[in-house]
Amino acid sequence: MTYEYERVATPASGLRLHLNENTAGCSPAVVEALRSLTAVQLAVYPDYDAAIDATARRLQIDPDALLLTNGLDEGILVAAMVALRKVTDGEAVVVVPAFDMYAACSDAVGARVVEVPLEPDFSFPLQRVLAAITDRTRVIWLTNPNSPPGQSIPREAILRIAEAATRALVFVDEAYVDFGGATLIGDPMLQQFPRLIVGRTFAKAYGLAGIRAGAVVGQPETIAALRRVTPPYSLNACAAAALPAAFGDTAYYDWYLNQVQESKQLLYNALQKARVLYWKSDANFVLARFEGRGADVQTSLAASGIHVRDRSSDAGCADCLRITAGVVEHTRKFVTALEWLV
Ligand SMILES: Cc1ncc(COP(=O)(O)O)c(C=O)c1O
Repeated sequence: MTYEYERVATPASGLRLHLNENTAGCSPAVVEALRSLTAVQLAVYPDYDAAIDATARRLQIDPDALLLTNGLDEGILVAAMVALRKVTDGEAVVVVPAFDMYAACSDAVGARVVEVPLEPDFSFPLQRVLAAITDRTRVIWLTNPNSPPGQSIPREAILRIAEAATRALVFVDEAYVDFGGATLIGDPMLQQFPRLIVGRTFAKAYGLAGIRAGAVVGQPETIAALRRVTPPYSLNACAAAALPAAFGDTAYYDWYLNQVQESKQLLYNALQKARVLYWKSDANFVLARFEGRGADVQTSLAASGIHVRDRSSDAGCADCLRITAGVVEHTRKFVTALEWLV
């Protein structure tokens, strides 16, 4: 079995509700910061002081507890390397369905991937995760809130896993936490377990997916181990300039979060009206099961220029489509198209 990231065809035009991106675009303050970069700033290796300082302040942590990465993807890769290099017979536990990169990176550094499915109602399978932990387990990948259903993991479950996994890194991916989950950053649990780390991305709530900026947060010694295998200039000069500008525009951030909440409510109402099963989500997307017609609904929506993600090949997700909740005006277009279809 090989594991790899499934690249999704990028539509040339239309409404992108298929990759959980920010559908508004980033803050104008970021665009301004990029415009003001000089030729010399682009010609020299970037300085990260301002970006590190702004991110640490935003996350209310010490700079030693923070590693900036080229998107959270790179954070996942370096965590896999640190957890699994020089280990023979290492195992990586992945709660599925999940982001492809956990299995792809673990597999790439030689681990055996152990998949633990979510419960049929997508609740967290704590007992089965605990049962999957062995002496060989070196990394456990958790997504909080998860994707595609958008459910949060109870804090108690993460605590039990951190207690049980004495030889493994426990990586809690909080890519979607801005939209409704509870972060572990600032939680005493993070001080208690040196092997517990948190991944964050600025792709979603801040709209910086194209810029590529993410972070890993944990105890300074653990972060230092990750830093040693991270390229010294992994963020480019644009990302370094974008982060302070993005964090400075709190009005944009608050506005976008409100748009997402309103959009989720619109989606729930429309799906309920159409008698389509859906799951309430703590993230910026909603998963819905179009019984017996998932692929058809996706194709018809695409024909009208609205792109959603078919997740039907994921474990437990037969006939499920995942719809990004972003700008309300965009969501209304989806709702109108849905009303015509079902
Ligand atoms: C759960 C999860 N983690 C990480 C990422 C990657 O984030 P980034 O774009 O910062 O690499 C994604 C992207 O969609 C994601 O869904």
